[in-house]
Amino acid sequence: YMQNNKVLQKKIMFCYFLAQSSNLTETQNKSNNIMDNGTEWMTDFSDIESKFSFRTSEEPEDDLCYIVPGQPETIKECNFNPDNKTFVVIHGWTVTGMFESWVPKLVTALYEREPTANVIVVDWLSRAQQHYPTSAAYTKLVGRDVAKFVNWLQAEIDYPWEKLHLLGYSLGAHVAGIAGLLTKHKVNRITGMDPAGPSFEYADAQSTLSPDDALFVDVLHTNTRGSPDRSIGIQRPVGHIDIYPNGGTFQPGCDLQNTVLMVATTGLRNMDQIVKCSHERSIHLFIDSLVNQEQESFAYRCSSKDSFNKGMCLSCRKNRCNKVGYRVNKIRTRRSSKMYMKTRDMMPYKVFHYQVKVHFFGKTQLSYTDQPMKISLYGIHGEKENIPYIMPALNTNTTVSFLLTTDADIGELLMVKLLWEKDTLISWPWWNPDTFHIRKLRIKSGETQSIIIFSAKEGEFSYLSRGGEAVVFVKDKEAQSSRKNQRLHKLKMHGSSFKQSTE
Ligand SMILES: *[C@@H]1O[C@H](CO)[C@@H](O)[C@H](O)[C@H]1NC(C)=O
Ligand SMILES: *[C@@H]1O[C@H](CO)[C@@H](O)[C@H](O)[C@H]1NC(C)=O
Ligand SMILES: *[C@@H]1O[C@H](CO)[C@@H](O)[C@H](O)[C@H]1NC(C)=O
Ligand SMILES: *[C@@H]1O[C@H](CO)[C@@H](O)[C@H](O)[C@H]1NC(C)=O
Repeated sequence: YMQNNKVLQKKIMFCYFLAQSSNLTETQNKSNNIMDNGTEWMTDFSDIESKFSFRTSEEPEDDLCYIVPGQPETIKECNFNPDNKTFVVIHGWTVTGMFESWVPKLVTALYEREPTANVIVVDWLSRAQQHYPTSAAYTKLVGRDVAKFVNWLQAEIDYPWEKLHLLGYSLGAHVAGIAGLLTKHKVNRITGMDPAGPSFEYADAQSTLSPDDALFVDVLHTNTRGSPDRSIGIQRPVGHIDIYPNGGTFQPGCDLQNTVLMVATTGLRNMDQIVKCSHERSIHLFIDSLVNQEQESFAYRCSSKDSFNKGMCLSCRKNRCNKVGYRVNKIRTRRSSKMYMKTRDMMPYKVFHYQVKVHFFGKTQLSYTDQPMKISLYGIHGEKENIPYIMPALNTNTTVSFLLTTDADIGELLMVKLLWEKDTLISWPWWNPDTFHIRKLRIKSGETQSIIIFSAKEGEFSYLSRGGEAVVFVKDKEAQSSRKNQRLHKLKMHGSSFKQSTE
């Protein structure tokens, strides 16, 4: 096992090495004239190497019919539906030279959600299986191919631009961007699924996916670990909305232990899954949004990952939160906005986000770091007990705010329990100076935007002690009603936002 582990690690390092070398060479030259202003190249179909496979919901895996630019009869032959939406799916770099297993999954999910749509898979496999930097440089030529195809298709049947949605994964995201830049008119939407980082992190907007490439560009960043030049996914925002699930660096369920287990059960041919797990998660999050409509995930705008993890960013005011994936609200902010969310480690990925705010009173000055807590939430639909949380800092007379998530919908909260664990073996239950007094807990739900105040179940304070019993807080009826009264009072005194007479 240890031996295998070492081999795996070596192979991973190799893959990273491939991915990080970012020296653009001869192929770059061919596409220098990308911004050629003339329109002649647009209608020259002789040099198109990419193929456009029209997939069906019955046989999402198979290339049964190609739509060929310059051959209008192929549009009819493939049963292209001119009245409905079109999804153009663009793959990324490939080791095997074959379509990866996510392609038919995404095709199926798109048809599941939009049964009358057209799903076209771009096949640029021959250029995508080169040494990484070579394939990266080819994105310009492939982008041109896709632009030519889209322009031609649109002109041929007067197809509405607003029905075109390009979806690109990894290098394919940049292909989509370049294609969007070159089409005569902006396509409606581009979705970038973990756009590739190496060769692109510091590249200009014309060479990468950018907000100018479509009316709306949304991006999921799922594998942005390491320094910018080593990150598999691009780290900087490149769309109108950029979502960083779980901070964007690395996804739950993708740790080495898990993937080693998976390789052990499914064989070494799935080696590349280890490297790709987080990268490919971007696609599965999008698929999730297509097929699990009733479990829509939300993401929240935030200035940093750290603030998000403190639960500080669960506001939905002024478009600060948004749906993730297919049904995203197409908000075009002037600057790209980074949004964050947590997910489960498998589909459906949705979790419920809560901000917990609590003030720790004390007579003596206590100061701790990294304290293990367990929080239990009880709601009208269910409960989630013993959610572990390591509290980074715990000091007397300070307020702590942190993010807590549950995978189940427990409904409106009724009760909360807080337990402070003791990590040492020796305990002195009869003499315990490590105690904080807590008067109230404030919990804000990201999904419902409700704020609920909880107070000690008995007495004014609860006493939280290290290694002691869990303390219980219940919904504070007084606080709720007084808040309501305050609001009512305000309304009576100041009315709505209309100007009042000063009488
Ligand atoms: C790049 O293009 C220039 C002409 O535009 C040519 O002279 C040069 O040889 C090309 N370099 C490579 C590596 O193809
Ligand atoms: C496009 O062509 C026009 C005139 O032919 C020129 O003025 C303009 O600068 C060109 N734009 C680009 C982006 O090359
Ligand atoms: C899709 O096309 C069919 C005809 O093929 C049409 O009846 C239907 O309204 C269209 N749906 C959408 C959402 O455009
Ligand atoms: C914490 O604040 C309370 C008053 O809110 C005060 O009585 C107590 O002495 C303070 N504790 C410390 C350690 O300063």
